[in-house]
Amino acid sequence: MPNDQVNVKTPSPVKEQTQTDGHDQQLSGDVYYPSPDVTQQARVKDWQAIADFAAQDLRGYWAKEAEELSWFQKWDEVLDDSDKPFFKWFAGAKTNIVYNCLDRYQKTGVQNKLAMVWVGEPGDVRTYSYYALNREVNQFANVLKAMGVKKGDRVTVYMPRIPEIAIAMLACAKIGAIHSVVYGGFSVDALQGRIEDSESRVVVTADGGWMNGKIVELKKTVDDAVRRCPTVETVIVVRRTHHEVKMESGRDYWYHDLMKLPVASGKCQTEVMDANDPLYILYTSGTTGKPKAIQHVHGGYMVGIYSTLKNVFDLRDEDRWWCAADPGWVTGHSYIVYGPLLVGATSFMYEGAPTYPYPNRWWSLIEKYGITILYTAPTAIRGLMRFGESWPNRHDLSSLRLLGTVGEPINPEAWKWYHRVIGKEKCPIMDTWWQTETGMFMITPTPTVPLKPGSGTRPYFGLTAEIVDDQGNPTPTDEEGYLVLTRPWPAMLSTIYRDPERYVRQYWSKYPGKYMTGDSAKRDVDGYYWIIGRVDDVIKVSGYRLGTAEIESALVSHPAVAEAAAIGLPHEIKGQAIYSYCILRAGHSPSPELAEELRQHVGQHMGPIARPEQVTFVEKLPKTRSGKIMRRVLKARAQGLPEGDVTTLEE
Ligand code: WT7
Repeated sequence: MPNDQVNVKTPSPVKEQTQTDGHDQQLSGDVYYPSPDVTQQARVKDWQAIADFAAQDLRGYWAKEAEELSWFQKWDEVLDDSDKPFFKWFAGAKTNIVYNCLDRYQKTGVQNKLAMVWVGEPGDVRTYSYYALNREVNQFANVLKAMGVKKGDRVTVYMPRIPEIAIAMLACAKIGAIHSVVYGGFSVDALQGRIEDSESRVVVTADGGWMNGKIVELKKTVDDAVRRCPTVETVIVVRRTHHEVKMESGRDYWYHDLMKLPVASGKCQTEVMDANDPLYILYTSGTTGKPKAIQHVHGGYMVGIYSTLKNVFDLRDEDRWWCAADPGWVTGHSYIVYGPLLVGATSFMYEGAPTYPYPNRWWSLIEKYGITILYTAPTAIRGLMRFGESWPNRHDLSSLRLLGTVGEPINPEAWKWYHRVIGKEKCPIMDTWWQTETGMFMITPTPTVPLKPGSGTRPYFGLTAEIVDDQGNPTPTDEEGYLVLTRPWPAMLSTIYRDPERYVRQYWSKYPGKYMTGDSAKRDVDGYYWIIGRVDDVIKVSGYRLGTAEIESALVSHPAVAEAAAIGLPHEIKGQAIYSYCILRAGHSPSPELAEELRQHVGQHMGPIARPEQVTFVEKLPKTRSGKIMRRVLKARAQGLPEGDVTTLEE
């Protein structure tokens, strides 16, 4: 049962010391030191002291962070590592992340604080106090229960960027159901595969969402996907755009109708969860094959994102936090939905595109809503930079005090533009490296750490990262190698849903005892890490993680295509763009029209972000003797670079 030890204090500083961050020594390269203003106010003042403490006492550090949250029952062990790599954080503890996000604030002053300020692309505004958000989550949790959803059941959430996506996620977690959010920019094949794999009985969606002045027809995609998914019994539809959608009787229900029913009471008991019970699954692409369902749990995940958001973005009562990601990706799960509520922050959410109707949309929102911290992706910065300084300069951006970036390496030009034009040279930029799998920021500064444009600086408290060669030996300074993580952390994935063997194989087998990130990186003389990029079959398009396998299977599903390969090549705004190579079936011949048709085909099946930049028709693809496509060779050829070791090439 929920205990009475409600902790609603603004998170307490980890350690207060006056000295700056142990970085009095001269650093090499292009370095940005924090201003005295930032240093004086920062929650984490002595970075080095905390890092040292966490390095010596990993369990002690995380126990201290965990104690700032509420638990129905305390843990027996901070970390049970008896069954590696199935690490169990806070083993034996009972909690529910939603208790810490919402319940514990009720009957305190926090219930009157704004939890969420939301703006739709057409300009409509909605706000939720902690009180109102809690009530709506309770109501929807009761609706889900009435639909037969029980602890452990999976619910697929396929929504635009509207408050109900957070409400649906929180309602699931509250009753112990496992949400599986599918990004609203994905299309029918991607959605169908994820519904099928998770065996969801309930899908929550909307009649559409606004993006670039147009309606994204989510409901139609759900209809097409669900037709082929026998497990789905119920589809709940939020009315967002009011345009007409087909409602199938006995299967489809309007959210607003259900929320008016007597069962949808504003009170709902929060399910007591084991700290290691699953909270959600989130599909992501990796090396070959189907996307994998990354599983996160209630306890450790909650502690990890609470600690990182509090310390890295230094959230305070007066802040207005804007994480401009989509809730459908891990950034949104951790730092739009759960993290801000765990620290009791006011979080801003905007539905639409940054450049609609004009390229000043974001800057005008920052001015109007007094945003103090903006967290976005390099691709967005580069996209907005293209329109020139006059757009941001038209707005008062003086409310900003911190900036953040995530998703792909940020090029120093974009970093400097962000720092100068948006941050007016007074806002430190938190370049946070992490992954769907890590759940929380991993390599990141805190506000007082001296910054180097393009580097995420050093691992967060309690973490260690190494750069190793193929044999697992550490590489020398400034030399590229594989990035691996050598100590467990609380928000780590607990497994791949229903595929523990793949979890071990994928992440822990290449270098036993070390977590393989799939990234390459180097470390400089100051111990700063520089991420270079993925070394597997992942393509990062505008920061979105896509697998070559899914794109290739969308291409091959077209009747004209016999075989296909997809690769990522550098792109000025998107970071990487997709290039594909197709071998046609007999009876089909190459033409610009067919290339365009194939591009559209992938867009319709996978989603617009997966649409290749270019489709090239080829007679042959470079393959290994065992038949694996050598994407590395394709990439080198496309860029006119040396092809490297081709001893396994079949041709
Ligand atoms: C991959 C993970 C975790 C939030 C969004 C992405 C790349 C992520 C950075 C950064 C350089 C970055 C890596 C990583 N990445 N953040 N700050 N600097 N690269 O999550 O979709 O799971 O992708 O994104 O390649 O492995 P994701």
